[in-house]
Amino acid sequence: MQIAFRDDLKKLKPITEPFHAYEVRLNTNESPFDFPPELKELALKRLAETDFNRYSGEYIERFRQALASYHNVDPDRIAIANGMDEMIRLCVRAFGIGAKAVAHVPTFESYEMSAIAEGVPFVGVPLLEGFKLDVPRLIEEATTFEGSHAEDQGIPGILFLCNPNNPTGNAFPMEEIESIVKASKMVVAIDEAYWDFGNPDALYMLDKYDHVIIMRTFSKAFGLAGIRLGYAITTPEIVSELSKVRQIFNVNSLSVTVAQVALENDDYRKEFVEFVIEERERMFEALSKIKGVQPFPSDTNFMLFRTEKPAEEVLAKLAEPLTDDKDQSSPKKRGIGVRNYSDRPSLENCLRVTIGRKEENDLFVERLREIMEG
Ligand SMILES: Cc1ncc(COP(=O)(O)O)c(C=O)c1O
Repeated sequence: MQIAFRDDLKKLKPITEPFHAYEVRLNTNESPFDFPPELKELALKRLAETDFNRYSGEYIERFRQALASYHNVDPDRIAIANGMDEMIRLCVRAFGIGAKAVAHVPTFESYEMSAIAEGVPFVGVPLLEGFKLDVPRLIEEATTFEGSHAEDQGIPGILFLCNPNNPTGNAFPMEEIESIVKASKMVVAIDEAYWDFGNPDALYMLDKYDHVIIMRTFSKAFGLAGIRLGYAITTPEIVSELSKVRQIFNVNSLSVTVAQVALENDDYRKEFVEFVIEERERMFEALSKIKGVQPFPSDTNFMLFRTEKPAEEVLAKLAEPLTDDKDQSSPKKRGIGVRNYSDRPSLENCLRVTIGRKEENDLFVERLREIMEG
């Protein structure tokens, strides 16, 4: 049968899982450290006490309580999802359908991908020189409604602000973020996946505005990307709207049980953040000294850099196997993985590297120097 697939999905690439194929994985902004062994043991003990035969409701409720006291807010202000990625999708579904989704670009691709998948028009507002927000244009987009984007039909639209921004790495001034929120007639979702590493904390806005959502994740500073858990802090009314468009039991009891152990023992997160900040400075210095490399300052656990050589060539050379392994029986792993952003407007020849372990960062810097200067 000839299936007439959705025409608008032609813009999307199928999502695949290529990330494990590198010996040194500096391409997905994960923590390079697994959950500390003593916490893993505690988590396993708690998992053993979890009823696998029951739906996750009671565990989710307990976890929402724990998150609420962690942030000192009421539990009815918290929504949780399978990673922030799912929360983004829920925001598009609850507030974008029938209207539009807006974000500054370049930014995290998930906002546009979710909009396309949900059939919502996406408007990208380019960042200005120096990766600055175009505040007037963002406000214009967040206050104008055309055709079906009808404000009077009670369809608000959704504006995403990623702070600090992926992939550029910079945090935007909070006054700018707030001036956009204040003017916006759309619901504004602020993605703070990386806030721990730069502290552009917008939680205070919850007391001032009733159309703002702060989104956080366990994937970055908590180092738990594999458990897929993200959350939003917002108004009880918005939590209620988001709950209408999610799956009934969207998050599983295993993830929330592990995340609760992380919340109750969050010193390891603070230590990791300190480590990243130190390594980030070291990485910036080292990259600045390589001929033909321009690193951009970062408020995150990754760094964008531009190379004078074509980014594809640098990417391919970094990915060459690190050891000349004679054993032909197993497939050879690629060397160092970083992400190529050079196809995005204003990011010509730009690559993004995650801050890894000290020895991984050293290896990366050494290989990059050889590629650029050798
Ligand atoms: C800005 C930003 N938001 C959200 C996410 C996704 O977070 P999660 O792993 O919770 O889905 C990422 C992942 O890289 C990200 O860079």
